[in-house]
Order: sequence, then structure tokens, then C-alpha cells
Amino acid sequence: MDAVKLKDDRTVRIREFRIEDKEKLFEMYESLSDEAVRWALPPYTRERIERGWLSNLQNLIAMVALYNDKIVGHTQIYKFPHSRRKGTSDLVIYLHQDFHNVGLGTAMLTKLIELAKKEGLHRIGLHVTADNKPAIHLYKKLGFKIEGVMKDSYFGEDGRYHDEFVMGLILK
Ligand SMILES: CC(C)(COP(=O)(O)OP(=O)(O)OC[C@H]1O[C@@H](n2cnc3c(N)ncnc32)[C@H](O)[C@@H]1OP(=O)(O)O)[C@@H](O)C(=O)NCCC(=O)NCCS
Repeated sequence: MDAVKLKDDRTVRIREFRIEDKEKLFEMYESLSDEAVRWALPPYTRERIERGWLSNLQNLIAMVALYNDKIVGHTQIYKFPHSRRKGTSDLVIYLHQDFHNVGLGTAMLTKLIELAKKEGLHRIGLHVTADNKPAIHLYKKLGFKIEGVMKDSYFGEDGRYHDEFVMGLILK
């Protein structure tokens, strides 16, 4: 477990996700504000998290950040199991709104990329709406490149279509 001091002097602990964390993970997703999931795909219900993510643990590298025994950040890489997608993966990251913009995303993704390299993964890909500026800034800072644009692929809460970027990081 790594202790990470954030820009606002709070210290969080970052470690790999364990199945016994699942109630705390549901609690974090239940407590996300509308703003935190503005550019995401809500709702993040227990059923969806359990079926979509936790039933596939063998294909995940997942990390959590803990503060006062609560999960305040979650990021994971889904390793595509098909042999024709060998070594390639898909990334998501969600932080509790009280922990945005203080360096936690940088700390968690740096660690996750390190683990992915150790496992010998070849590629991490992701989708992000073109309006999600902090996320795009963070991904670019860590070496991800914009590879393409999916025009009008995201229907926002504002009732309009938004573009999404396909981004990717090739691990050497
Ligand atoms: C996107 C998210 C993971 C970023 O994590 P974070 O901990 O806030 O990120 P950090 O504080 O480590 O870094 C954010 C960077 O974006 C920059 N930033 C913040 N707002 C910005 C803006 N409007 N435009 C450009 N850059 C911005 C910060 O200055 C910081 O850069 P720096 O490290 O060079 O100073 C987090 O905000 C989050 O969980 N958002 C909600 C869920 C989400 O949208 N997930 C991504 C779905 S693809």
C-alpha cells in the first residue's frame, strides 16, 4: 500500500482492489455527484458494477484510493481476453468529487500504468468526451495520445451530442 500526499496535504492510501472492498466501492459510486459523472455513463448501480466489472476480476488490474477507511478513487484496466486483442486493454477512472484536482488521478494512473507495464501489457486505450478537459489533460500528461474522434457519440445531460476522443498509450 502506497501513502500519497495530495496537493491539499491530505494523505490517501493507494492499493490494488480486493473483492472484500466491494461494499465500499458501491458506496463511493452511490455518493458521486451529478457533476462528477457529467461526462460518464451513469447510473453506477451495484448491479452494473457487480455484473460489468467485479464478475470479471481475472481480466482486471484494479486500484482503489482510501481516505478515512472510505474509497475515494477507483481506476481499472480491463484486459481484453480475446487472443486477437492480446496485451490490449481499456481504462476507466472515477474519483470522488472531494478529491478532484489535487493530484490523486495522477498518482493512481501512474501506479496503474506501472502495474500494466510489469504485466507486460502492450496498449491501454480509453474513450473520453472532448469536453472533459481535466481528464484529457491528465491522460496527455501521462503519455496518452488522441488517436481519433467519434463524432456526436455522447448524448449529454444538456440534451446535445458531444464528440468523444479515442486515446491510447503504447507501453514499451
Ligand atoms: C478526470 C479525473 C480522473 C482527473 O483526476 P484528478 O485527480 O482531478 O487529476 P489531477 O489532479 O491528478 O490532474 C488534473 C490535471 O488537470 C488539470 N486541469 C484541471 N481542470 C482543467 C481544465 N478545465 N482544463 C485543462 N486542465 C485542467 C489540472 O491542473 C491538473 O493538471 P496538472 O497535474 O498538470 O496540474 C477526475 O476529475 C474524475 O474522477 N472526474 C470524474 C470522472 C471522470 O470524468 N472520469 C474520466 C472519464 S473518461
